[in-house]
Amino acid sequence: MPRLAYVIGHPIRHSLSPVMHNAAFAACAIDGEYRAIDLMPEQVADWLTELRGSNAYGCNVTVPHKEMVARLVDDVAGDAVLAGAVNTVCRHPTDSRRLVGINTDTIGFRRSLAEEGGISCQGQHVVLLGAGGAARALAVVALQDGAAELVVVNRTEARAEVLLASLNALVGPCRTRAVALGDPTLEAELASATLVVNATSVGLGSTELPADPASVSTGCMVMDIIYNPRATAFLIAAARAGAHTVGGLGMLVHQAGAAFEQWTGVRPPVEVMRAAAEQALSIPA
Ligand code: ATR
Repeated sequence: MPRLAYVIGHPIRHSLSPVMHNAAFAACAIDGEYRAIDLMPEQVADWLTELRGSNAYGCNVTVPHKEMVARLVDDVAGDAVLAGAVNTVCRHPTDSRRLVGINTDTIGFRRSLAEEGGISCQGQHVVLLGAGGAARALAVVALQDGAAELVVVNRTEARAEVLLASLNALVGPCRTRAVALGDPTLEAELASATLVVNATSVGLGSTELPADPASVSTGCMVMDIIYNPRATAFLIAAARAGAHTVGGLGMLVHQAGAAFEQWTGVRPPVEVMRAAAEQALSIPA
């Protein structure tokens, strides 16, 4: 009987996590199996109780459950405490009956930015589009890694203000501000940015733009955490303005790799996981 791991979310049909993790189990000759479970919010607490009593490795957590799971697990650790969001549930190292919530989106973002963009957030003037669960993890990295400025831009400005206020202890010398998406200053904010990241859901499976990146400067790094389509309309427009661009697949693969390592203790075969995700993306839905 294979040992199980899961991803929970709603909707979950298009998740690439099962193909990545099952490819990793096979490549590492681990008798494991990864399954996607579609859960409505009201089902999550009972499902976690079942998970606690099983021998499964744990689960990944995706939209819209990341913040709720942070309140339902027995312990929250690492970056998940700061982000207020859990994307991976594993077992306590000395008490397997306790479920621990961690966040590997921060690791995924940091590794993808280094590997594909060749940079870190150190000294960057960051413009972060979005203030949801994903944006929170990215803001944690920007502040931990020493961004010089962090501008959080969101359709609902109050949510950007709440995000920044909740990370106040991390801010240090970083200059932070919240800006509304339609604000006339946004063009100038984008023009002076050195790193712009889309962490909204705008552009997922569509050609919509979260904001017009035409004013970004030549050489600015622009990242989109959306990986489907691989080249989002936002990245295409940013490249046209002279920016370097990084898509979201690397972050997806690295957050998965970090979760796999946490569960199995085995170094993740990230290239196998990336190839499995790329292949799945190339098959029309
Ligand atoms: P996730 O966990 O993926 O971050 P989320 O918490 O629902 O998901 O956050 C989605 C983000 O995309 C938010 O910043 C949201 O803006 P609001 O806080 O104003 O809701 C943003 N977003 C979603 N749809 C949007 C749209 N049509 N236009 C602009 N921003 C949008």
